[in-house]
Amino acid sequence: GRVVVLAGGLSHERDVSIRSGRRVADALRSAGVEVQVRDIDAALLPSLLADRPDAVFPTLHGATGEDGAVQGILALLGVPYVGSSAAACRRAFDKPSAKDAIRTAGLATPDWVAIPKTTFRDLGTHAVLDAVSAALPMPLFVKPARGGSSLGAAAVHTREDLPSAMVACFAYDETALIERHITGREIAVSVVDTGTGPQALPAVEIVADSGVYDYAARYTAGITEFFAPARLTAEEAKSVEQLAVRAHTTLDLSCVSRTDLILDADGIPWFLEVNVAPGLTETSLLPLAAGAADLDLGVLYRDLVQAVIAE
Ligand code: DAL
Ligand code: MG
Repeated sequence: GRVVVLAGGLSHERDVSIRSGRRVADALRSAGVEVQVRDIDAALLPSLLADRPDAVFPTLHGATGEDGAVQGILALLGVPYVGSSAAACRRAFDKPSAKDAIRTAGLATPDWVAIPKTTFRDLGTHAVLDAVSAALPMPLFVKPARGGSSLGAAAVHTREDLPSAMVACFAYDETALIERHITGREIAVSVVDTGTGPQALPAVEIVADSGVYDYAARYTAGITEFFAPARLTAEEAKSVEQLAVRAHTTLDLSCVSRTDLILDADGIPWFLEVNVAPGLTETSLLPLAAGAADLDLGVLYRDLVQAVIAE
């Protein structure tokens, strides 16, 4: 059948999305699927109405792509798509909301406070610093409540470093998520559901050369070391996979997700966030995990598409 891959979009992760879309289109074609790649703009609706593709595979990251906006339009048009419902995307993409749901489900996630830009402006730096210091011990991690690819995110080791980290973060979103920085191994677990229920792919361990898995470390080939599968005991592997599958089901996600977590020295997996449109570029984590499971990407993406068409 005919599949439209959506790539590009208007978020800060536009370039990443274009790379993801290109890779997904190539993989689908290798599996014999007829594919068209399309950006999103005002002509999206009429063109989908006119073309009536069998399915849409959105590879849009960040705002519009992961916050449920595009998913709502596709649902309205009645076009099957690979991804979660608009409501599930909206909640998962908002890190404080996702963490709240995860904690309520009894899973570990680092303590946090969410501070809107308006509060920062109205209360002033000192009051905000006092509030954060009273709530959370150093070190901290500051990131936009809604965003991705580590843009606007920074580790904070001293009270003095917090205001500038927050200001940088507000360039990407109106709310800053300030989280306790848990020490441990950085792990990502992708979950796929091709119609038979959510299955975890092998965990991937991330060791950034500089020690920080930032935007450059994510998308520059060769500067981050990945272990796929991660160097885990059978028990550790089971616990991180369980966390990812439980995050997927708790947040009512569909088709595909990737949970990023920290595995601490005591073997506790700490949920950091879940991505409803995980990166699918040549340096991204889900393709690495699929490789570790000996899954052909074209077949995997085609199976994801076929499952939503069959629904
Ligand atoms: N936000 C990027 C695309 C990722 O999570 O892979
Ligand atoms: Mg993310």
